[in-house]
Amino acid sequence: MLVGTLSLLADGSEVFAYDKSYVASKIAVPIYPVLPLQLEGFTTQQTRAAFASLGPEGPVGHDIRTALRAGRDAVTPVLARLNHETIGALTFTDDGRRPSYEGAGVTPLDTDTLASFARNPERAAFEELMRSRLSLNGAVSKIGAIRTEEGWGRPQELMPSTHILKAGTPAFPHQMLNEALCMRCAVACGFDDAAQTDLIPIDGCDPILASQRFDRMTVKERPAGLPETMRLHQADFCQTLGISVDALKYTPSDELIEGYTASVAAAISRESSERYGDRSYVFDMLAFDYLVGNCDNHLKNLSLTWSPDWTRKAISPPYDITCTTVYADLSREMGMGIGRHRAIDAVEPADFPLMAEQLGVGWRQARDSLSQMAEAVAPSMMDCAHELEMECGVKAIELAEHLVGDCRGRVEVALKASM
Ligand SMILES: Nc1ncnc2c1ncn2[C@@H]1O[C@H](COP(=O)(O)OP(=O)(O)OP(=O)(O)O)[C@@H](O)[C@H]1O
Ligand SMILES: [Mg+2]
Repeated sequence: MLVGTLSLLADGSEVFAYDKSYVASKIAVPIYPVLPLQLEGFTTQQTRAAFASLGPEGPVGHDIRTALRAGRDAVTPVLARLNHETIGALTFTDDGRRPSYEGAGVTPLDTDTLASFARNPERAAFEELMRSRLSLNGAVSKIGAIRTEEGWGRPQELMPSTHILKAGTPAFPHQMLNEALCMRCAVACGFDDAAQTDLIPIDGCDPILASQRFDRMTVKERPAGLPETMRLHQADFCQTLGISVDALKYTPSDELIEGYTASVAAAISRESSERYGDRSYVFDMLAFDYLVGNCDNHLKNLSLTWSPDWTRKAISPPYDITCTTVYADLSREMGMGIGRHRAIDAVEPADFPLMAEQLGVGWRQARDSLSQMAEAVAPSMMDCAHELEMECGVKAIELAEHLVGDCRGRVEVALKASM
């Protein structure tokens, strides 16, 4: 169904407006919290806050904007060109025709293409995104893929991808192995629904990481002509809080601050169908980020997912967790801090009860889950390393030992907090 129209005006402003028949329909719901149902168009700022997250960032985003002659901040030209599918459930069309599943299918993503993606991620991601008209956001090079019984496939036309494949850069050695270890460790520490993460080994370089999409669902009996994979909608917390400037995905200012935690808690209370459970889940996620040393826990790495019928929303499972503290060049300021501290090394036991308070979560319950995670993180990390070595033959134990060594001091702080 046509939900609305995004227009780029001659003066460079971008305006989204819902379609009248959508607003009038019984099933109409806001597609993002910052775009309440209304007939008048939204401002450029609201429009960008809602849609900017759908465009690729970093070098791939830059190459795409250059190829499309799109301005630095403009989102409409990028979405018009790349949009059989995005992060979430929306699809875009730029010729006024209804997107159709005609021609939707899968073609093989062969080993050579995967190897060239691992070896030259930026070039290959640019080509794949232009070719398959997917737009996947984030700074790391990635492509959308489908796991089939025969191996990896590339979505054709409107076919939804089932996985996101990511390739690291040599600037951060073992980046994908690091993420796979942290993601699997999250599952082992109690985040049962965290994105399922696998590695595809490639000779001579860091493996490719395959993350199963949580904004996709398999439905066996769908109406004729529709694929079994159904898109679910998602929005990150820049979209949810109406933050249109990418740099602000990290808490601004490095003073002693309370940061975004209280705003995230308020947004959950407003938007989520699982208010208390989700605020307490965010406590666990932030505590886990702290324990494993993931300072890249900014507002785009936290999101809401909609139910298949778009009537309910809840916090998405964790994704994109990496131990960033092992890379000397990366900032040690967390995207969202713990209590009063953003600098990961300055976090002290008193910050944890404060964070529980900011999130409106009972300290007793939060404390129990903190101490369980603190006890579990090191042994789980080692178990996951053994599992990955057995499963795909990558060397994971040495890195896991390094990550465990790195977490030790933080585990002690968390245990003190939970005493
Ligand atoms: N498993 C998944 N299922 C669905 N969506 C996902 C999944 N993993 C990531 N995403 C979405 O894709 C976006 C980009 O992915 P991700 O955060 O892993 O990339 P990144 O490039 O490492 O990001 P960053 O810019 O934080 O470094 C995320 O913000 C999220 O919305
Ligand atoms: Mg991310």
